[in-house]
Amino acid sequence: MIRHVVLVGLMGTGKSTVGRRIAARLDRDFIDADEALVERAGRSIAEIFAESGEEAFRALEVEMLDALLAGERSTVIASGGGVVLRSENRTRLAEPGITTVWLTAGPAFLASRVSPKPHRPLLVSDEPTVDVLTRLHEERSPLYAEVADLTVDVEPFHRDDDGPRTALADRIVDLVTAHEAGIIEGTPS
Ligand code: S3P
Repeated sequence: MIRHVVLVGLMGTGKSTVGRRIAARLDRDFIDADEALVERAGRSIAEIFAESGEEAFRALEVEMLDALLAGERSTVIASGGGVVLRSENRTRLAEPGITTVWLTAGPAFLASRVSPKPHRPLLVSDEPTVDVLTRLHEERSPLYAEVADLTVDVEPFHRDDDGPRTALADRIVDLVTAHEAGIIEGTPS
């Protein structure tokens, strides 16, 4: 049976870093959905936003998630922070065989971790990063909650160096393993 783990959550929660570690632990492929999208589109996220607008990016994001979840191998996928905005994606993430893990953290903490890089055009504005993240947190939390099989507060794990992040990956692997065992027994939680 093909089983996917999809990490969702705001920018700065560490989806890609921890996703790589989880994939290694579970012996699965790791895919960064944004990187896959950029490769498929042949344009950077900044270019897509600037030339075609956010809605065009969201449409590509739907196509990308669809393609990744249709993959023939079990994978760990780090999604882009806005993947839950489109209802098509939320429907897909709720399907059996997909364990969706919501990485949560407070906006102030996330603002201290992220910088407005080109692949994050939503942060490239005059609005302070913490304000943008606060708004996104309010808008998106109900959507993340809707799709999440598992929720993990990453803040306590990220405070230090490598040890805590390893602890975070271990924690998520334990939760995913237990969740998938429930799915296999036919009692998805
Ligand atoms: C976005 C998050 C980014 C990227 C794009 C839009 C968002 O991904 O997909 O800039 O809407 O939150 P990360 O969450 O990996 O930074």
